[in-house]
Formats: sequence, C-alpha cells, structure tokens
Amino acid sequence: MDKLSSLMETHLLLILVCIPLGRSLTVTVPDSSSPSALVDGPQTAFTVNNNGARTDIREQEAVYDIMRATGNDWATDIPDICRGRWHGIECMPDKDNVYHVVSLSFGALSDDTAFPTCDIAKSSISPSITKLPRLRTLFFYRCLTNNPQPIPSFLGRLGKSLQTLVLRENGLVGPIPNELGNLTRLKVLDLHKNELNGSIPGSLGRITSLRSLDLSGNQLSGLIPDLSFPQLNVLDLNQNHLVGSIPTTLMNCPSLIKLDMSRNCLSGPIPESISGLENLILLDLGYNSLAGPLPASLKELNSLQALLLNGNPTMSTTIPSSIFDGLKDLVVLILSENNLQGIIPESLGRLRKIRVIHLDGNKLNGSIPASFGDLNDLSELRLDNNLLMGPVPFNRDMVWRMRRKLRLNNNSGLCYDTKSGLGDDLATSSDSVIGICETSKYGMATKAVRHISTIDGTELGPLGTKSAGRVQKPAVACFMLLQLANFLLFAVYVM
Ligand SMILES: *[C@@H]1O[C@H](CO)[C@@H](O)[C@H](O)[C@H]1NC(C)=O
Ligand SMILES: *[C@@H]1O[C@H](CO)[C@@H](O)[C@H](O)[C@H]1NC(C)=O
Ligand SMILES: *[C@@H]1O[C@H](CO)[C@@H](O)[C@H](O)[C@H]1NC(C)=O
Ligand SMILES: *[C@@H]1O[C@H](CO)[C@@H](O)[C@H](O)[C@H]1NC(C)=O
Repeated sequence: MDKLSSLMETHLLLILVCIPLGRSLTVTVPDSSSPSALVDGPQTAFTVNNNGARTDIREQEAVYDIMRATGNDWATDIPDICRGRWHGIECMPDKDNVYHVVSLSFGALSDDTAFPTCDIAKSSISPSITKLPRLRTLFFYRCLTNNPQPIPSFLGRLGKSLQTLVLRENGLVGPIPNELGNLTRLKVLDLHKNELNGSIPGSLGRITSLRSLDLSGNQLSGLIPDLSFPQLNVLDLNQNHLVGSIPTTLMNCPSLIKLDMSRNCLSGPIPESISGLENLILLDLGYNSLAGPLPASLKELNSLQALLLNGNPTMSTTIPSSIFDGLKDLVVLILSENNLQGIIPESLGRLRKIRVIHLDGNKLNGSIPASFGDLNDLSELRLDNNLLMGPVPFNRDMVWRMRRKLRLNNNSGLCYDTKSGLGDDLATSSDSVIGICETSKYGMATKAVRHISTIDGTELGPLGTKSAGRVQKPAVACFMLLQLANFLLFAVYVM
C-alpha cells in the first residue's frame, strides 16, 4: 500500500508521446481537485475511528463487477474498496462520511503508474459503471485491446459527474455513440488510437466544458461537424479519414493551443477566420488535400510556435511575404511538398526564434534570402528539390552547425561565393553540384564533389544527400514539445 500513496499524489497524469513531430501530444487530467489528498490525509483517523467512514455498498458491488469484467477478480476479496485502495481507484467522503468512488483507472501506463492491468483478450466495460453516480474520471489504457467491442452507449449516463473519459488504445470498434454528447461536464475526451469508424457525432458539440478532445488515430470518416468549444485547448483529429473542408465554426475556439487535423483527406482552403485562434501554439494540417491560397490572416496567430502544412500538393500557391509578419515566436515551419511556387519571402529570415525550416519538394525559385544568414538558432534547413538559384548566404559556422540537417540538393543553380569563406565546407552530392558562383551568371559551376568536415577532421558526408522518400517525417525537436506540454499542463491545471 506504500506504493499507492506516491501515485495518489500525482493528480495530473500527463501522457506525452514525443515521437518525431510530436504527432500525439495529449494531456489528460484525471481531476484537478483530486480527492487523494483528502483520503490519504485522514487515514489515521480511519484506524482510530474504525466504525467511521465506509464505502457506499452499492458502489462497492458495482466496482466488484467492473473489476471482474477486466479480469481483476482479486479486488472482490477487498472488504472495503475505499479503505483497501489500489493504484487506480480514488474515493471521496460525503458529509455523512460515506465514501464514494470518484476515479477508476486501468492499464500499465508507465512503471510509476501501475493501474490494474486487464485481461486484454476478455475484458469489457461493465454496465455497473452507471452505478457510480460520483465518478469523475474513467481511464482505460490498452485494456480491451484484443476483445474488439464498441464504446458502450451507457457511458452517456454518467453525465452528471464525469469529467475525464480516456479510452486510449483499446481496439474499440464501430461509431462514437451519440450518447457521449450527454457527458456535458466532460473536460477531457480521449479516444486516441482505436478502430472507431463512422463520422464524428455532432452531439459532441453539447460538451461545452471540453478542454481536450483527442479522436486521433482512428478510422473516422465523413465531414467534420460544425463544432465549437469555448474552452477547448487541444483538438487532435489526426490520422483519420475525414473529408470536406475545415469547418469555420472551429475557428470559434479561442482557447485552442493545439490544433492537429493532419493525415486526413481534408480539402478546400484554410479559412481566413483562422485568425480567431489567437492562442494557438501548434497548427498541423499536414498530409491533406488542402488548397491555396495561404490565408493572409495566418500572420495574426501571434502565439504560433509550430506551423505544419506539408504534404498538401494541391496547395499550389505562393507564400505571401506578409504571413510571417506576426509569427514572431515561430520555431518550426514545415511547408514541404506543397507545390509552392514563386520566391521564398525575405521576411522568413526575420523570424529570430526559428529553428526548423522545411521548404523542400516545392517549385520555389529565385534565391535563398540573404536574411537567412542571420538566423542564429536555425538548426535544420531543407530547401532541396526546388528551383532555387544563386549564392548560399551562410557562413561556415552555420553550415557546420546544421551539418547534414542542411539540405540543398536538386535545385536549379545554387552556388557559393568565394568571399563567403565556405569553400570546401559546402558539400554536394554527385547529382547536384554546388560550385563557386561565377560573377556573370550563377550556378554554372564546375563538377566537383566536396565534403564537409568537422573541426576534428571527421567527414560528415555529402550535404546534398538525396532524401529517401517523398514522405519525410520532419523531426521537430522535443524541446519545443516539452515546452508546449508544460504550457498545456499549466493551462489545463489552472482551470
Ligand atoms: C442521451 O443522448 C441520446 C442521443 O444523443 C438522447 O437520445 C438521450 O435522450 C440522451 N439521454 C439523456 C438522459 O440525456
Ligand atoms: C465500421 O466498422 C464495422 C466493422 O467493425 C463495419 O461493419 C461497419 O460497416 C463500419 N462502418 C462504417 C460507417 O464504416
Ligand atoms: C518564379 O516562378 C514564377 C511563377 O512560378 C515566375 O512568374 C517567375 O518569373 C519566376 N522567377 C524567377 C526568378 O525565375
Ligand atoms: C528535383 O526536384 C523536383 C521538385 O522540385 C522533383 O520533381 C524531381 O524529381 C527532383 N529530381 C530528383 C533527381 O530528385
């Protein structure tokens, strides 16, 4: 039981999957007003006053049912579940000193948070869950995985109390029940990585208290309904089969910090009303079929740190120089494979916090803006597979800093100026030569393969290494995501 109390202190359960590009960043908040302190506190009082508080008998029977349905029959040997507590159950006394179950969690989330695990081949969610009228948090992680079943519609009956519903990675099938829209007190709804299909129910719009909605990694199809949530911080719909355009109603979610609708089949332009998302930090609309032009109002997203729109070949537009004007905090810009034309705006080189720029696989022409030479934090730059010409505006330090994360191959005629001191530092691959700029015309360089060397003489290999495939997962540094996570944690916690 000692182990229990340490977990009980963890009021916030933060799931942070920092895979390349941080595709799944989810914050789950079981309950900010966690009762654990209360229950842990008076435990001495408990033993002293042995006839005092006890668990509501109907709830106790219900919990036995729920535990049996997940293969945790051992729990039925515990005579008073709120006293013989395990990691994964939380109780709270009422004014008559009767304990009620307020939180139930299942699944081995990490070594520190060992909730009861489930028999994944047989487990189900018992209907007895509806007999827990004070339940605020229900958390199932990798629990029902090998017993494909739909989300039970009876969960909708927990509307009076439920604030957090997490059913991550449980192999759940079928549609999201309309009844979940009855959970009007919900703050967190997380159905990440199941096999859910059908369309997103419009009834979810009734959950006006929602802070985090994660439906990513399913097979949801159809149009995104006209939803708007005044308090929503996180909306993650990535990796589904959603079609149609981005609903303008979603632009009425002024609290959104993270919006991820990448890897769907969305079409049409990005709405100008996107400027309504004034607190947005991360916007990912990558790998869809969105159309140009890029809305000028993007520049009003002053908090934005990561903008990812790559893999929308239907974009086929130019980059308006004005869009970078307000994006002062931008750290990551991913616009690869968008069929972008015209020049790279000089204004991009004025984003002093930028660390990652991917503009590869477009039809950008003109030269690399000289302002790029002043981007002191830039650690990753991909400009390969474009139509760029002219001198590379970097000094040796910058080239060395980026090393192989500087990609310039397959352009129309990039070259280096002998005065830049780059010389042998700018390596090339055999099929794309970056030679010395000629004074008369750029890009007519001698065929020479050069390699970049580190200070200690280790060869780094050709800079212009051809990218392996069309779909490149841009590697966004974890530091940024961690920073974002901290921010989210704060934002969600204070509510
Ligand atoms: C719950 O939701 C369903 C479908 O959205 C609805 O028909 C039903 O009346 C709701 N029940 C309650 C108790 O609100
Ligand atoms: C959802 O998946 C089930 C199989 O799990 C299938 O029978 C059903 O037709 C699918 N529904 C939709 C709308 O794709
Ligand atoms: C760049 O491309 C645009 C259209 O894609 C064209 O109008 C313009 O002349 C090109 N500029 C240069 C310098 O090649
Ligand atoms: C060079 O880049 C263009 C896109 O700008 C692409 O279509 C072409 O296949 C690339 N060539 C090679 C050899 O990779």
